[in-house]
Amino acid sequence: MMGQYVKAGAAAEMSPGQGKLVELQGKKIALFNVDGAFYAIDDTCTHRGGPLSEGECEGTEVTCPWHGAIFDLRTGEVIGGPAKTKVACYPVRVSGADVEIEV
Ligand code: FES
Repeated sequence: MMGQYVKAGAAAEMSPGQGKLVELQGKKIALFNVDGAFYAIDDTCTHRGGPLSEGECEGTEVTCPWHGAIFDLRTGEVIGGPAKTKVACYPVRVSGADVEIEV
C-alpha cells in the first residue's frame, strides 16, 4: 500500500543541520534539514533505541547520541557501528511552506 504525505511542520522553523522529532501515524520519525534538503528516518536507533533526532548531524550523516552509531540520512543505512541494522527512511517533500513526510 502506498503511503500518504503528512504535514510534519513548517520548513522555515527548521534550521540547517538541525534534527526534529515528529510523530506521524504512530511512528517516531527524525526529520533533518541539511542545507535546505530534508531527510526523514526512524527516530529510534536500531542498537538500543537512542533518539536519532537528537544526534549530531554532519553532511548527510547523523551520529546516535547514545553510543555513536552513524546512519546515512539519505538511505537509513548504517555507516558506523555499533548498530548493525538500518533504520527506515521516508520520502520527504516541501509543499508550499510545509514539510511533508510520506508515511
Ligand atoms: S542506541 Fe544508538 S548507538 Fe546505541
